[in-house]
Amino acid sequence: MSRITAAITAIGGYVPETRLTNYDLEKLVDTNDEWITSRTGIKERRILREPGKATSDMVVESVNELLRKRGISAMEIDLLIVATITPDLIFPSCANIACDKLGAKNAWSFDLAAACSGFLFALETGAKFIETGKHKKVVVCGFDKMSAIIDYTDRNTCIIFGDGGGAVLLEPNEEGYGVLDSILKTDGSGREFLHQKAGGSLKPPTHETVDAREHYVYQEGKTVFKFATTNMADVSTMIMEKNNLSSEDVTYLLAHQANKRIIDYTAEKMQLPPEKVLMNIQRYGNTTSGTIPLLFWDFEKQFKKGDNLILATFGGGFTWGSIYLKWAYDS
Ligand code: COA
Repeated sequence: MSRITAAITAIGGYVPETRLTNYDLEKLVDTNDEWITSRTGIKERRILREPGKATSDMVVESVNELLRKRGISAMEIDLLIVATITPDLIFPSCANIACDKLGAKNAWSFDLAAACSGFLFALETGAKFIETGKHKKVVVCGFDKMSAIIDYTDRNTCIIFGDGGGAVLLEPNEEGYGVLDSILKTDGSGREFLHQKAGGSLKPPTHETVDAREHYVYQEGKTVFKFATTNMADVSTMIMEKNNLSSEDVTYLLAHQANKRIIDYTAEKMQLPPEKVLMNIQRYGNTTSGTIPLLFWDFEKQFKKGDNLILATFGGGFTWGSIYLKWAYDS
């Protein structure tokens, strides 16, 4: 019997309507469009502003799109995983809430937190449930409402992050398409450079933690930049070597959209020309777990059956990794 792999068979995505441009940020902090564009590649981000709306609402929008495209109902989903660091509540999980809102009554579900690497970690996890034959339809989502934990008085972080994400449907494939290989890594000693200081069990919320603005993202940008460039480039070239892929064999790189300079460095190490490097950072900024599914959503139309895609990421933890995926359909 041939090996069962997990192929992506449908995609959905969602970004909120409200745009936060570099010019808007100039009014909030001491920054300017030229600085942000040249240092990061970002021009604008989307912000989920409606009161009462949370990460699960964005998940629901994108999963409904994916179900419509595939012509199936929510009742057919076996498992739904949401990669996120901004769930609606600490518990129950965003995935549980999303399944309720979707009417996915036959699915079990859970969240996975690996910051910007969340989607790749969730994709690998979901793929394993397909490969064992246990499940036939697994939905993997990557979504964050970063505006919920960003301090819009801190110019080091507020220029980078935005809200949004996407979802993919995984189904069994016996023709060699889908998730073919992965290299995933964590190093928790990197937590001091990128984290949220309060709100967890280490420092439960108090008036003091709120006054000290400790519920927002804290980042030492320069250090994170250094680790991100080296590790993302290393792991991406490593997965190419492991699978005997030359730069000609790679159709596209889908890299975590954290900073254009980090992506360019990774592409250079992989010896990829610019047309093979997919980018939408200028429009959405860094949506954390959302960036790679948003690339799938935006660029789906140009994918062809058999395309070799390299996914690459780096994020808080530290977490990082790369996945080699063979695209399964003509879009
Ligand atoms: N606007 C204008 N000036 C700014 C600024 C802003 N938003 N933020 C910082 N500056 C200033 C600094 O104060 C500093 O001024 P100084 O030289 O007078 O001290 C100067 O610009 C350079 O700051 P620095 O932090 O060295 O800039 P950088 O080139 O490292 O860029 C980041 C900052 C955050 C864009 C960059 O470090 C980065 O992208 N890091 C990785 C972030 C990331 O990817 N995080 C997600 C993890 S997946």
